Amino acid sequence: MQVTPPMTAERAREIAAAFDLRALPEDFYANPFPVYAALRETDPVHRMPDGSWFLTRYADLVAVYRDAQSFSSDKKVEFTPKYGAGAPLLEHHTTSLVFNDPPLHTRVRKLIMGALTRRAIADMEPGLVLLVESLLDGIEAEGGGDLVEDFASAIPVEIIGNLLAVPRDERGPLRAWSLAILGALEPKLTPQQEELGNRSVTEFLDYLRVLVADRRKHPGDAEHDVLTRLIQGEATGEKLSETELLQNCVFILNAGHETTTNLIGNALVALEEWPQARAQLLRAIGTQPDWDALEPVMTLAVDEFLRFESSNQLGNRRAVKDCEVGGVALPAGALVTLCIGAANRDPAQFANPDVLDLARENNRHLAFGFGIHQCAGLSLARLEGRVAIGRFLARFPRYRLTEPPTRGGRARFRGFLQAPFAV
Ligand code: HEM
Repeated sequence: MQVTPPMTAERAREIAAAFDLRALPEDFYANPFPVYAALRETDPVHRMPDGSWFLTRYADLVAVYRDAQSFSSDKKVEFTPKYGAGAPLLEHHTTSLVFNDPPLHTRVRKLIMGALTRRAIADMEPGLVLLVESLLDGIEAEGGGDLVEDFASAIPVEIIGNLLAVPRDERGPLRAWSLAILGALEPKLTPQQEELGNRSVTEFLDYLRVLVADRRKHPGDAEHDVLTRLIQGEATGEKLSETELLQNCVFILNAGHETTTNLIGNALVALEEWPQARAQLLRAIGTQPDWDALEPVMTLAVDEFLRFESSNQLGNRRAVKDCEVGGVALPAGALVTLCIGAANRDPAQFANPDVLDLARENNRHLAFGFGIHQCAGLSLARLEGRVAIGRFLARFPRYRLTEPPTRGGRARFRGFLQAPFAV
């Protein structure tokens, strides 16, 4: 159970002063929360050795997210030296909507949101339930498996694949591409990670060019198919360029993968560590679950999993003018890391923040970000979380991990690579 142990004020100051996102100690990945607490309490707007800033207080993150005029999401300045001019990773990340400001951001977002309406998401539920139940059948037949490989990661790849209507037998490489491309966002990269990331962008684009050409000839149902929507463009006739179209498809296919895998994997591992929370949720689910009636209970639980072990721990912005955050003056050009994982454990916002409370009310966590870039797929992610976690528990109430789970070892995306279990 990860309860942050008390720490002397002096020790907290030492830890905060030494904090450098590019030089994290190995034990940080298992439990970063004491370090986050030390920063939040003693140096919430922390200057790192590279001159950038690391923010850990909930109120400060909200203030930055809210002020998209002062804090840009455009990453060209930051990523050009990181990846080098002409690198596929540079073109990809600087063309995706999440790393752009309006007007490109607004145009792409509007197109995507049209296929993620309440109705479109409700229409996905029956297929999702069938998929989850068939994965559970396979696990039951084997008497267990791996929470991440056999369950958590198998769900988003299908759901996002459906969202862009990627043919089923072509989905195999999607997860590896996605892990490599998003992995290249880590604060520090090895040459191998960079090479793999660049190669993955190139391969992904080669694949998508063929898919897009085919979809142009045979358009899908624009109510449900994001790719057809992006190709057709807005009713006003404004279309995305070919590069914008392809790179944003890559982004959407990536955005919903690892994040949702980690939501499901983190939740099922956390329930092993919090037996009371698990017993409480199992009691609510009962032996003959009425899933419609359980929706509010599962929604609260999923949001608490998201708060407690946020899949995406870090966000970034760049100050475009002189501004102030949490009483600290930041100059124009300041690079800011928003620590979602720390803000979601801020006692100024959440009572008993280090306790997993699956019935937590008024849980305004920042796991999906906030403001104009707030996650476009949040309703879809919540649906996947509810169905996957709820049905897994109903089928295997006594599941147990058979080996310690293996962490992904990333600062930005928090999750497990493997978690073997028996039912
Ligand atoms: C548990 C699962 C998920 C988490 C924790 C998550 C988290 C986030 C966060 C924190 C952002 C904001 C980034 C920023 O402001 O810098 C974001 C943006 C985004 N997410 Fe998600 N996400 C999840 C699932 C999904 C899914 C399933 C989709 C599928 C459509 C998706 C699509 C997007 C898109 C398109 C954006 C960019 C929005 C914009 O820039 O306006 N996400 N997500």
